[in-house]
Amino acid sequence: MEKKLIVANWKENKTASQTTEWFEKFGAALSISRSRSKLSINLEVVVCPSFILIPVLNSQLSTLNSPFRLGAQDVSKFEEGQYTGEVSAKMLRDFVSYVIVGHSERREHFGETDEDVNLKIEQCLKYDLTPIVCVSSLEQVSTVSDVIFAYEPLSAIGTGKPDTPENAQDFAQEIKTEVGQNVKVLYGGSVNAKNAKSFVSQPDISGVLVGEASLDAEEFGKIIKTL
Ligand code: PGA
Repeated sequence: MEKKLIVANWKENKTASQTTEWFEKFGAALSISRSRSKLSINLEVVVCPSFILIPVLNSQLSTLNSPFRLGAQDVSKFEEGQYTGEVSAKMLRDFVSYVIVGHSERREHFGETDEDVNLKIEQCLKYDLTPIVCVSSLEQVSTVSDVIFAYEPLSAIGTGKPDTPENAQDFAQEIKTEVGQNVKVLYGGSVNAKNAKSFVSQPDISGVLVGEASLDAEEFGKIIKTL
């Protein structure tokens, strides 16, 4: 059976001490400090904090015997060199397994283009990182293999108004028709503990990308427990 992927996108939130607090509450919510029995073995959970918090969470998660992975929220489109402020795939691969690429907030606030997104995907693949490519329309879907797509309709991000599971399923099916049946498609946009299951139970949806609701360790724990 295919593993479902639950991805937390913390965006520009949390300090180091808030991260430690989140981690403690999250562990308590899932009783994972003692055993992994409360977690389905068919789940993989990926937490994507800001760059600076990745090592903090890395040392905490490594104390657990559980299926948690780390991801970054972005990566440089350049391999290395004179690009002040950038973080490369080569640097990230020591810490994370996944990278969110082309999130609509990056496209909107930082002018990221499809060309930038493609260069970032290339960097990820070169350094064995799995890109989670966010798309809000089929035009943004490029037919690269070894990536995961996240369908995130703009009207659903941070609004409390998720798309319907049926629409998300249709979109996922269209991506698969275009790219290949083996590609994984996630749904993102106002996912919470009440609606996560309705998306994940669609035949072509392999998981969810969770923003706001992942900031609250108890709510995020609940999402995981409902799946
Ligand atoms: P949201 O964000 O869950 O807060 O709507 C999702 C996302 O932007 O990835």
